[in-house]
Amino acid sequence: MVTESEEGRRDFLLLATSAVGAAGVAGAAWPFIKSWSPSSDVLSQATTEVDISSLAEGQMITVPWQGKPVFVVHRTVTQIELARKDDTKSLPDPAKDADRVKRPEFLVLLALCPHLGCVPQPIGTGNYGGFLCPCHGSHYDTSGRIRQGPSPRNLQVPYYEFKDEKTLVIGKATV
Ligand code: FES
Repeated sequence: MVTESEEGRRDFLLLATSAVGAAGVAGAAWPFIKSWSPSSDVLSQATTEVDISSLAEGQMITVPWQGKPVFVVHRTVTQIELARKDDTKSLPDPAKDADRVKRPEFLVLLALCPHLGCVPQPIGTGNYGGFLCPCHGSHYDTSGRIRQGPSPRNLQVPYYEFKDEKTLVIGKATV
C-alpha cells in the first residue's frame, strides 16, 4: 500500500525529472537556433557601403563585397557613349547599357571573369576600351559586356543602390 507521503514524493520526482528534461532540450536547442541566425561577421559583409563623392570621372576603385572584388567605375562621357553606341551591335550576351547601370556615369561590376573566375584588368584595357581578362583573353566593353574571347557571359552587375548622392550600397541587408 502506498502512503500519502510516498505518493507526494513520487509526484515531486516526476515533476523534477520533467523540468530537468525540458531545460536540457532547451539547452541543446540553443546552439542550433543560434547557428540559424547569420553571424555578425556575415551580416557586416552582406552589404558594402562605398563613398563615391571623391571618385572622379575616369577613376575606378575595387571594393570587397562578401569576399569578392567589385569594380566601381565613374565613367567618362566617352565611355558611356561607346557603350550606348554598341547597344545595337550583335553581342554574345545581349544587354543594353541602360539596363546595366542605375546612373549612366557609375558602372558597378563583379570583378570576376565568368570564364574561370580571374580578376580582369581595370577599365581602359582590352580591344573595346573596357576590361581585359588576361587569363585566356576575354575582352569586355565599357559596359562590362563580353565582346571577344572565351567568356560565355558579361561581367555580372551585383545588386546595388544609391543610398544618397554620395553613397553607393552594394548588396542587400539580409535581416
Ligand atoms: S578566366 Fe577570364 S578569360 Fe579565362
